[in-house]
Amino acid sequence: MKEIRIAVIGTGSISHRHMKVWAHIPQVKVIAAAEIDEKRLRVWSEKYGIADTYTDFREMLKRDDIDAVDVCVHNNLHAPICIAVMKAGLHCYCEKPMSASYYDSKLMMDCAKTCGVKFAVQISSLFSEQTRTGLRLIKDGILGEIYHARSVIANYRRRPSIDGPFNGGTPDFMKTEMAGHGQSIDTGIYHLGQMLFLLGLPKLHGVFGKEYHKIPSPIRGRNIEVEDMCVGLAEFEGGLTLDIQEANACNVIQLPTSYITGDKGALSWWNIDEVGGDWSMGQGPGGYLPENMQPGMRFTGEYHGIHIDCDLRTYYNQMQNRCYDSQVMVWYDNQMHWYKYLIGELKEDERYNTPEIALNVSLLTDGIFLSSREGRFVTTEEIKAQSKSLAMWKQETPWGVFDYEATY
Ligand SMILES: NC(=O)c1ccc[n+]([C@@H]2O[C@H](COP(=O)([O-])OP(=O)(O)OC[C@H]3O[C@@H](n4cnc5c(N)ncnc54)[C@H](O)[C@@H]3O)[C@@H](O)[C@H]2O)c1
Repeated sequence: MKEIRIAVIGTGSISHRHMKVWAHIPQVKVIAAAEIDEKRLRVWSEKYGIADTYTDFREMLKRDDIDAVDVCVHNNLHAPICIAVMKAGLHCYCEKPMSASYYDSKLMMDCAKTCGVKFAVQISSLFSEQTRTGLRLIKDGILGEIYHARSVIANYRRRPSIDGPFNGGTPDFMKTEMAGHGQSIDTGIYHLGQMLFLLGLPKLHGVFGKEYHKIPSPIRGRNIEVEDMCVGLAEFEGGLTLDIQEANACNVIQLPTSYITGDKGALSWWNIDEVGGDWSMGQGPGGYLPENMQPGMRFTGEYHGIHIDCDLRTYYNQMQNRCYDSQVMVWYDNQMHWYKYLIGELKEDERYNTPEIALNVSLLTDGIFLSSREGRFVTTEEIKAQSKSLAMWKQETPWGVFDYEATY
């Protein structure tokens, strides 16, 4: 199978998860890395035995032996750096979220098209048995006419770098300059991305929404600039509605149950796989999550006149599928999916079009922010017209100012 040579940009926390996955795909060789923090780069390079390193990624992009680039920097650098990568003619894999605004996501999507490169965004929740089971049942028409859906995540305290050791992440997650927004786009991409994908990317008419900054930081001197919760009610073509709650800090503890309901049946699910799948978490096929952490899904409704309430055993099925056939991982891992797309085994219309899904999520979340500012329902046309870039087009680094404005 064809070998792909990859370079990594940003050797911080998430890059290590990516490296774990690349180690599972022997045809992928990581041959270089760029990072502005020289010490971090040295430690990373020693850990993975990759000697070719750069403090200015633009120098790295001049090489002629790189096929594709894995971009692991923070949110507001996604657009400038991915665009630079794609303009260098290289395929690009971008960490989530695609960007912090519809405007920036659109720039990235357009750039991929213009440059004719293969672009993907990390949305791990798509690569779960929940999503695949949901997709099959919805395509089979088992829900009937779908008219309403709910996307709910209500975390009591789960702010990166703020709420305890289990949350990881750096304080950058809490800063508007670097992250752009908070929970709505951070893990919102996993929940809303999965939801819009299952609903078949319906066309948004408009949204009423609100963002909240309510739960203070418990750490003296560490401010939180981004929202901790957003809510919204969106309307799509055909009258389909979706209500949204995304919270990484609130005073509610509830089983976060998202659902899609039609006139024949409903699918409800919980414990969404939002962490990047087994390979990145180091469990591998054969690993097993405790019962209360397993992603689950349930069908309720009528089937041939019989009332059913049925556990779809998604986690069990996922483990079975992985154990039986490692090729199945193309549907269970973001990076394997991108690799198969790069080598042409997955065609454009077969792959999960993650940039398009992420662009639709950006439109929805931008709608919530705009509606929150305006205090009223906002239409898709208004959202598109008023969306602005939040990206960092000039970046202060130890190596001078990196000016990305030429690519803007
Ligand atoms: N940390 C997590 O648990 C986690 C989980 C899922 C997704 N993510 C996503 O991954 C992205 C990065 O998050 P992170 O936690 O790894 O952040 P991080 O700060 O640990 O890593 C980012 C790295 O990028 C480097 N960098 C910044 N500008 C650069 C440039 N111009 N060239 C090269 N390197 C540059 C930084 O020095 C830093 O080392 C974010 O978008 C986040 O949403 C993080």
